[in-house]
Amino acid sequence: MIKKITNENDISHQIAETEKKYFSHPLAEHEIKLMAVNPAYEILSFQKNGQLLSYIVATVGEYECQIIKLASTKKRMGYGKKILTAFIEKHKGKNIYLEVRLSNNDAISLYNSCGFIIDGIRKNLYDSPDEDGIIMHFSNEGI
Ligand SMILES: CC(C)(COP(=O)(O)OP(=O)(O)OC[C@H]1O[C@@H](n2cnc3c(N)ncnc32)[C@H](O)[C@@H]1OP(=O)(O)O)[C@@H](O)C(=O)NCCC(=O)NCCS
Repeated sequence: MIKKITNENDISHQIAETEKKYFSHPLAEHEIKLMAVNPAYEILSFQKNGQLLSYIVATVGEYECQIIKLASTKKRMGYGKKILTAFIEKHKGKNIYLEVRLSNNDAISLYNSCGFIIDGIRKNLYDSPDEDGIIMHFSNEGI
């Protein structure tokens, strides 16, 4: 089931644990709780029986969104695609932007498979370790 994270439906702890597993600058549990109640952000989760399978953290505006984080708790089970397609569907008509490490082939493949296109490369976008970033976007116009 796809759910928007709110105070009543709080799996911030599981998201924070997944953040620590994958990201050099993980979001902490208290930050996730604050973002969940801030209307500038949206956190969607794909869960089964209270277990987190994948999630997406994004800023959402009237015309565009920026994906900040996306992860699956188990890879290659379709969980990443599930949450990303739900997000795209929910934000029909908006452009969706994201940045991804140049070496992150798993994520780039997922974004390609969902219709994102590469806009360019930003030098030294990331640290820990230092790396260039790829800028991608999905044009939701007309869908
Ligand atoms: C990137 C990530 C979210 C992908 O999620 P996932 O649940 O493993 O992806 P899915 O199983 O939904 O795969 C969907 C499609 O993406 C592509 N894909 C995903 N991983 C791939 C890989 N390792 N190799 C090739 N294609 C891949 C495929 O097209 C796949 O479809 P298919 O399985 O039918 O071939 C996951 O690898 C992850 O959590 N990585 C760590 C966090 C991260 O790097 N997030 C991105 C930050 S920008």
